Amino acid sequence: AQSAKESLYIVSQFAAAFFVKQLWETDEGKSIGLSYFKERGFREDILKKFEVGYSPDVWDAMTQSAVSAGHKLEFLESTGLSIKNDNGKIYDRFRGRVMFPIHNFTGRIIGFGGRTLKTDKNVPKYVNSPESEIYHKSNVLYGLFHAKKAIRDSDNCYLAEGYADVLSVHQAGIENVVASSGTSLTVEQIKLIGRFTQNITILFDGDAAGIKASLRGLDMILEEGLNVKIVSFPDGHDPDSYMHHVGAGAFKTYLEQNRKDFILYKANVLLKDAGNDPIKRAGIIRDIVESIAKIPDPIKASVFVRESSSLLEIEERILMSELNKMRSNKV
Ligand code: UTP
Ligand code: MN
Ligand code: MN
Ligand code: MN
Ligand code: MN
Repeated sequence: AQSAKESLYIVSQFAAAFFVKQLWETDEGKSIGLSYFKERGFREDILKKFEVGYSPDVWDAMTQSAVSAGHKLEFLESTGLSIKNDNGKIYDRFRGRVMFPIHNFTGRIIGFGGRTLKTDKNVPKYVNSPESEIYHKSNVLYGLFHAKKAIRDSDNCYLAEGYADVLSVHQAGIENVVASSGTSLTVEQIKLIGRFTQNITILFDGDAAGIKASLRGLDMILEEGLNVKIVSFPDGHDPDSYMHHVGAGAFKTYLEQNRKDFILYKANVLLKDAGNDPIKRAGIIRDIVESIAKIPDPIKASVFVRESSSLLEIEERILMSELNKMRSNKV
């Protein structure tokens, strides 16, 4: 007999194939799901590569199909694909959504993100698979399976927020991209990237939440001893919307020309609200030194102290003594 875990992989693969078939071969899938992807500007080869699909807007279509094919309800429930309500009735978690299967880094499907097609604010935009025996969210990066070779070859990993971002950056011809998707960035995810490269470039959304998450993310990356750069996007764009807005060629150029190191990025973000207020400026300088203090390698840290000194027009000696104070407070 198979292990329980193996059975969860198998039902997940069944569901993914079911959703793909719905998208490409049914009237509902084609007229609702596929046309949605097309309207957003996704190419067919990208949709196929990432095995996106469509879950019909029916109470239990996927569950029925899986059970008819001989799959056990027990395993469908363990993956969260099927849910039993209080009356014992079984229904599909994903209904009337476009589906993004999530692969582990060996390529097996372990979960899903499903995006609503409704604009109703009361409907959650994404529904995700729950944690399961095969899906541990904090250890998973969306897109890693399709990106790992390009990450090694380019010695850099672009890190985005969402499913659509990964597809669109790929579509622009940049394959070394992953997303934290469905959780905020974790230390485990950073360590996972660290198996392929020491260099991460953050591509978070240009909205307030994305900027906040990027500041948190860069500190976590520095703390793990990896190098971090940031590309920010104008007017609240995210990588997906910006790629479709400017086109693949211009998007690629934009990434190459707007990669900032974390000192410059932090200074830009924080100084924007501070103006000339000296107390606020002092707070920002401390904030930047705090990030430098997270870098385990003292030689690397001293390089960033020098850069901050010239950028912020503060004597290196003062920044250094602040840095040493923070380091000694930490232990
Ligand atoms: P965003 O709100 O930025 O969505 O969330 P998005 O990826 O740009 O989606 P589109 O372009 O409108 O389709 C970023 C990521 O956070 C997770 C998803 O992984 C999403 O891709 N998220 C977001 C959820 O898990 N649930 C939500 O309700 C919203
Ligand atoms: Mn576990
Ligand atoms: Mn966002
Ligand atoms: Mn977004
Ligand atoms: Mn988006």
